[in-house]
Amino acid sequence: MTRFLPILLLVMAGYCSGCWAANTTANTSDAPQQWQLQSPDQALTLTLTLNQQAFSYQLNFKGRPVLKPSHLGMAFKDQSPLQAGLKVLKVTPRTSNSSWQPVWGQRATIVDHFAELVVDAIETGDKPRQLQLVFRAYNDGIAFRYHLPAQPHLNKVVISNELTEFAFARNFKAWWIPAYRDLSFEYQYLNSALSSIDVAHTPLTLTDEGIAVAVHEAALLNYASMTLRNITDNHITLTADLVPWANGDKVYTQTPFNTPWRTIQVADSEVALLNSDLILNLNEPPAKDVELGYIKPGKYIGIWWEMHIGQKDWSPGPIQGATTERALQYIDFASQHDIDGVLVEGWNQGWEGQWWQRPPTFNFTKAVAGFDINKVAAYAKAKGVRLIGHHETAAGVQYYEQQMDEAFKLYQQLGVTSVKMGYVGKRIDQNQWHDGQYMVQHFQRLTETAARHGVMVNAHETVKDTGLSRTYPNLMTRESVRGMEYNGGSPDSGNLPNHTVIIPFTRGLAGPIDFTPGIFNFNYQQHRPNNRVPSTLANQLALYVTLYSPLQMAADLPENYQGHPAFAFIDAVPTDWQQSKALQGKIGEYLVIARQDKHSENWYLGATSNEQARELTVKLDFLKPGQSYQMISYVDAPDAHWETKPMAYQITNSTVKAGSKIKLKLQPGGGAAIELIPVL
Ligand code: NOJ
Ligand code: CA
Repeated sequence: MTRFLPILLLVMAGYCSGCWAANTTANTSDAPQQWQLQSPDQALTLTLTLNQQAFSYQLNFKGRPVLKPSHLGMAFKDQSPLQAGLKVLKVTPRTSNSSWQPVWGQRATIVDHFAELVVDAIETGDKPRQLQLVFRAYNDGIAFRYHLPAQPHLNKVVISNELTEFAFARNFKAWWIPAYRDLSFEYQYLNSALSSIDVAHTPLTLTDEGIAVAVHEAALLNYASMTLRNITDNHITLTADLVPWANGDKVYTQTPFNTPWRTIQVADSEVALLNSDLILNLNEPPAKDVELGYIKPGKYIGIWWEMHIGQKDWSPGPIQGATTERALQYIDFASQHDIDGVLVEGWNQGWEGQWWQRPPTFNFTKAVAGFDINKVAAYAKAKGVRLIGHHETAAGVQYYEQQMDEAFKLYQQLGVTSVKMGYVGKRIDQNQWHDGQYMVQHFQRLTETAARHGVMVNAHETVKDTGLSRTYPNLMTRESVRGMEYNGGSPDSGNLPNHTVIIPFTRGLAGPIDFTPGIFNFNYQQHRPNNRVPSTLANQLALYVTLYSPLQMAADLPENYQGHPAFAFIDAVPTDWQQSKALQGKIGEYLVIARQDKHSENWYLGATSNEQARELTVKLDFLKPGQSYQMISYVDAPDAHWETKPMAYQITNSTVKAGSKIKLKLQPGGGAAIELIPVL
């Protein structure tokens, strides 16, 4: 049973279960007041305290402290902070237990079960300002947000700081990437003590014996992203550090407004974090009358990897990647396989030379010589393949917005229903961060423009995901991670083998990742002698299961897939799921996930390892009892190794049942990809 407990409350005399809110009045003494909120399963206990200085909250998980009392509040430009001298007007508890069906996702049905406490407070002095705090406790974490209602003494505001603290109870092990860097989210994750963090992006994942925690945010709209900065001498108290505008202001807004939800996911184990729906649950459902018919998850190929490995170029000229002929080859391949879309990068004008080092010169509606967009679009349509548009902005948002509507209009006319856009550059419009309010506002305009033209969004170098795809289901996937492209052409030679067993536990908690897996040919060093894909071929296949994305790329060239027996797995693997279960894993070491196709009884299992070989035993207890399944396994050959023999793999066939135990032998950088089909 969910409980709302007033622990030390002057109105205790009037307390009775169920009529608590009605009896609550302002505290008229200096004694602190406290309230408690528990998750439906009672594993999480949030305690809220109000004293003269501030509200503070603390969090326990199964009796163990996660957060010590952590202050709440907000600082404004040219006004005193809204933090001290508050009194509570009303406390309203509520529970809710429902479920909902996302348009696409890791689960066909999402349970939304929480206990809530809404606290209305007001300052005690002259010209008092009002504040509402909303807390929610779910079984998979807690969340809170500030609501600033319309009020006489607070209207237009510049937020100069959010005074939200996360005072951790112990020095967890942290998995994190630094914030305020030129490559935004495209970094290898660091693993170090929480106390060593300077300033980190979210999701920030923290682990300790028997507990895993992730701090993030949900529903980031018309606000700045939250990063987490160390502020205390003991270095384990982090504070919300909102990404500023170029002039240092954090957020321009007006009452009434909500901040995004501040989220703290908590589980017994790090792998259990992957089964959380907290972030999506905290977002609003889509508007009732919104058109959703064009939104379809699926797989795509594209003129892309050949540029990253230096065989072709985005620039017009002798090795121009985007040609009519090449696009038709991709469309032919897609039409012969279970591939829905074909992306063409470099199809439009303006890619000459070092495009990323100058103000943008792109024309988003005119094709480059050698690329007949009308012919390609008509051919794709005739072959039942969807052409995927591309908008590289080189971080020039103002420039892009001048053409944005026309650009989407063109795609709509051509029958293009999804667009990949990118924001390559150190700063947006020369001086804004990729995740401040400036970019959040642009990305919202972009999402709405795309929706008006019936276009799905796959954005690179953009703001982090905060679950907004629930509200805007055309927001399919995004990069905001160090993706496969680094293995293709990065001067630092590429990602580490453990990268893909870190990001599902960190970046992946935010939402879908357009990582672009599926490299089959590891001998691409002709122009990139120092680069390699740090995995085996079976690992590449397993990523289709372990890295969730509703738009999933098969990143290699069609000629590397043509006739390859292992492509059967990419052909078969779905991108929309009935259910998903993260079964085993340790961040940075290995991961096993099973998912059931949304449109059939088939299951797919992916297992991936870091640079270590390992043997895993997986019990197939998620299968339907009594049903036999044909199991097709794509596994590492015994001598496979990411460094020396990445292409060595085997395909095996067997029959299994619910409860069968299978052994998976993963080689260094290896993996296993398994398809389970009911035997009729
Ligand atoms: C960076 C993107 O992440 C990559 O996928 C794309 O190919 C280039 N920008 C060019 O737009
Ligand atoms: Ca990128």
